[in-house]
Formats: sequence, structure tokens, C-alpha cells
Amino acid sequence: MKFEDRLFPEAGLSWDLERLYGKLTEAKQIATLKTARLTSVEKAILRGLLCSYSPKEIAAHLHWTLSSLRVELTRGLYRYIETLTAHDLNAIKNWRDIVRWLEETEYKIPQSKQDWSEAPEIFSFYGREKELAQLEKKIIQDKYRLITMLGMGGIGKTALAVKFAQKNKQEFQYIIWRSLRHAPLLKELLRDLLGFFSNSNLPTTIQEQISLLIEYLRFSRCLLILDNLEALLDVNHLAGFYKEKYSNYSQLIRRVAEETHQSCLLLTSQDEPVDLLFIRANKVESLQIGSLEDAAKEILKEKGLSNSNCWQKLIERYQGNPLALKLVSATIQELFGGSVVKFLEANTELGVIVPSFFQELLTEQFERLSNLEQEIMYALAINRQPISLKQLQEHFKPQVGSSKLLHTLTSLKRRSLIEVISEVNQTSFTLQPMVMKYILTEEKDRAISLSIARE
Ligand SMILES: Nc1ncnc2c1ncn2[C@@H]1O[C@H](COP(=O)(O)OP(=O)(O)OP(=O)(O)O)[C@@H](O)[C@H]1O
Ligand SMILES: [Mg+2]
Repeated sequence: MKFEDRLFPEAGLSWDLERLYGKLTEAKQIATLKTARLTSVEKAILRGLLCSYSPKEIAAHLHWTLSSLRVELTRGLYRYIETLTAHDLNAIKNWRDIVRWLEETEYKIPQSKQDWSEAPEIFSFYGREKELAQLEKKIIQDKYRLITMLGMGGIGKTALAVKFAQKNKQEFQYIIWRSLRHAPLLKELLRDLLGFFSNSNLPTTIQEQISLLIEYLRFSRCLLILDNLEALLDVNHLAGFYKEKYSNYSQLIRRVAEETHQSCLLLTSQDEPVDLLFIRANKVESLQIGSLEDAAKEILKEKGLSNSNCWQKLIERYQGNPLALKLVSATIQELFGGSVVKFLEANTELGVIVPSFFQELLTEQFERLSNLEQEIMYALAINRQPISLKQLQEHFKPQVGSSKLLHTLTSLKRRSLIEVISEVNQTSFTLQPMVMKYILTEEKDRAISLSIARE
């Protein structure tokens, strides 16, 4: 790629460059009576003019003198543009005429472009006023460049991101939503994103492509939402490391966080990616998304459950997790005619039924754990009550060092699978009730499959 090809790429945000190049090539051929194409220098000068750079500024970018640029313009581009826009020859008196004339053509792309095709539709949305206000403060007011929403599966990260973007869409020229659930390679994602901004040719290397994306983020105010980042994280590592073929995502995230631009990358993830711990930039924040709290009652109301005086208890059992509450509401309707009291009375030993879809969610999460993480989960489940680090250590023979244990517990905390209970003189650890129920069922299954294997 020639150096001038990299100049003024942001013109592609507002102009259909490929078509414009094509039409100007035709005009050039008419003017010169030759089959010449537009040169890369002519294209660069055109992009500069379209971005409202003066000939003097463009000359400086090209390392030319102003007078040689003027000669180039009067011999070439000005004449082609006059032909294209059906003006008389030599009608251009001022370089600003060019943008004015071209703006009236079909080559100008209407501004404010949004692509929500991959975002889920949100039918009902309750509460989250505090989180929305927090997002608005950080993203709209303080212009944060990177926000990561973290929280366990089903807690409502995606719904919140959709709500935020819908509510604030007038603040952005571009809104792009992409789900990473199907784990695209970075080069595929970049091709897709850059194609959204402009149909001009892609730079060759990933680094150049990231630079171009950041150029767009600098030129326009964009909201880029990448949902389900956890799909790129490794199965067997501690929380937050990328699978090998996705490790270059780290560069994208880091550069978007650290370089100057006016846009925001909003990530959602069940696990916190390690990059975030190493990014040294202001305007970067992680938000932990927790219980839906009181607003969860609206979900139960919507599902037509009775005994509203017991709803609080139900909400607490399911950690205010909207997905879990929706799923368990269906069970309550089906098996207990909507009676929360009957459901709570009839409930299993732990008082928590793991809805089957949730089971899939947790299975996915569980498969991502390292061996030690899995062992800790089993140990916490068997104990049922919160236990201290020391008690946990006694479970492991041979012993596991306390720093390694702590490290792994932090990782589990980051995955929103365990709860840390801090009291005055001791910290203890336990599983979220729903996760505990799941592990105990798994443990039973594991024991059964082991005994079958032995037979
Ligand atoms: N504030 C809310 N009010 C009503 N329903 C909600 C709310 N938040 C989430 N939900 C519903 O709960 C379910 C799970 O929410 P969502 O998909 O946003 O969770 P998530 O945290 O993105 O989960 P995952 O980590 O699996 O992607 C969805 O059906 C969603 O519509
Ligand atoms: Mg989600």
C-alpha cells in the first residue's frame, strides 16, 4: 500500500468513495481522451478535500509545495469534478465549491447509521435506573472509551446494553451491535466493522485495520457494542484469558481503550478479560451487573404469579437474576398453578430448582473452568455453608498453596460463580444458591457415571 493510500480514510465515512472514484475516472477519460484511471495521489487529494482540508493542508500531508498541488488540481481533479457535476469548465473558483457541489449528488452517504441486526429485541424492561444513569454519566457525559459490563449469565447485561443504546441513540452518529457468541476471528470482525463504515479497500495487516477503525472512531461519535466477549475466552485457563486464536482481540481492546477518539466500545461478558487489569488509561471502567432487586417483582407480576408477599423470598433465592426468575416462573405456573407459596413449600432440599435452560448456561460456564476451579466449586458445594480460606485448604490433599487458592478464588469471583462474604474478622466463600444446586446435581451425575464406568 502506498503512503498516500492511507491519507484521509475518514472520507469513506461520509462518501461512497468507490462509486465516486469510478465516476471521476470516467470524467477523466472524457477530459483527457485517454483510458487513464484516477491515480492514488488524485484519490488522496479528493479524500482530503471531502474532509474539508484546504489545499495547503493537503500539500503538507503529501510533502508537496502548495504551488505544485495547485497545478495538479487545476490540471486534473477540478476539471473532472466540473464534468461530473455538469458545471462549466473552470467554474471552480474556491476549493470549498467541491464539497458543496458533491453534497448535492448521490455520492454522499446519509449520516447516522445504525446496525442493530444482531441485538435481541427487548419486550419488557424493568428497573436498572441506577445502572442506566451510571452508563449515561460515563459514556455520554464523561465520554468513556471502554466500558465492560460483567455479570453472571442471565443477569441482564445484554438487555441493559440494548436499553442504553435505544435510549441514547441520538447521541451517536453510528451504532453498531455485534454478538461474539459465534466467536468470529478478529480479522473477520474487523472486515465486517470496517465494511460497515466504508466500502473502500481494507489495509493488509490487522494493526493497520485497527488503526483505520480508530480513525473512524475519532472522526465520528460511534457506539460499538460487542456482546458475549466470554465466547473468546479460554476453557481451561483461569478466568479471563483468550483462546489462542483470539488473543489478538486484546490488541483491539487495548488500543481502543488507550488511543484518543470520541467513541465508546461497550463490552458485555460473563468473565472479566485479563486485558482490563493491565490497561493503563483513564476513561475505562468495568461495571458489575447484579440483582434486578425490587424491579424483579414486575417480572413475577407479568408472569401472573400469586402470593406477592412471598415474592421477595423468591427473588432472593434466584439472586434477582431475571432469566432465572422468568424460567422458574414458568415452572411455578405449570406445576403449582402460579402459587409461589406452594412452590416454596414443595421446594427441593436447597430450595432452588435449576431451570433446564439455566442448566445449559451453567454447563457452558462450568466447562470453561480450570481443574482447580472445578475442584473448588465442588468443595464449596459439598460444604453448603460459607467456608473460610483455611477450611477450604483442608479439603485439598496434597495441599494447595494459599496464594494459588486465592488466585483461583478471584478468578471464580470474576466469573460471578462464587460469593465472597466479608465479615469483620474473616472472609468466607460460598456458591450462589443456583450454582450450588447445579454443582450438586452434576456431582451426583459424576458419581453415577463413575460407578457405571467401574461396572
Ligand atoms: N431489566 C430487565 N427487565 C426485564 N427483563 C429483563 C431485564 N434484564 C434482563 N431481562 C430478561 O432476562 C433475560 C436474560 O437477560 P440477558 O440476556 O440480558 O442476560 P445476560 O446477562 O446478557 O446473559 P448472558 O451472559 O447469558 O448473555 C432476557 O430474557 C431478558 O429479556
Ligand atoms: Mg447476554
